[in-house]
Amino acid sequence: MIQDIVVYPDKRLKEVSDTVSEFDEELHKLLDNMYDTMLDKKGVGLAAIQIGIAQRVLIINLPENDTDDAIIKKEDTLEVINPVFISMKGTCKNQEGCLSVPGFYEDIERAAHIVMEYQDRHGKKKIIENQDFLAIALQHEMDHLDGKVFVEKLSFIKRKKFEKEWKKKFK
Ligand code: CO
Repeated sequence: MIQDIVVYPDKRLKEVSDTVSEFDEELHKLLDNMYDTMLDKKGVGLAAIQIGIAQRVLIINLPENDTDDAIIKKEDTLEVINPVFISMKGTCKNQEGCLSVPGFYEDIERAAHIVMEYQDRHGKKKIIENQDFLAIALQHEMDHLDGKVFVEKLSFIKRKKFEKEWKKKFK
């Protein structure tokens, strides 16, 4: 079911999400709702708090190419529960956007290479290693689980400019 997206500066986006302990039907329903919502809004990643659920759950589905008709398959969705970074190395800068900050894009610095431990929808422990856009997306979504939004990583000047424009947009 498609859910409403929590939009910045909604204070729910500042919540630190809780660890998931039950890998049950309710969790699977949450994951499915997140997928439907992400697909509807044409996003490539979503954290549970973005639909108002403060649990350490995120999903990512990166299209294989950048064209508008790129086919998104549900089985390609990476479902990440209780993620922990066990290694972050190097730095890189890429343009990011966020369904909770619609229409705003900016270059953000992140680690270039990550290793992450997480659980799948059945509670099975997994490890992922990546140094491509997936590494960036995982860091972006992980921030949501810790109550952080990517605009908080902007420089002081850029942040001020953003806040001014954002207020104007929602007046
Ligand atoms: Co986001």
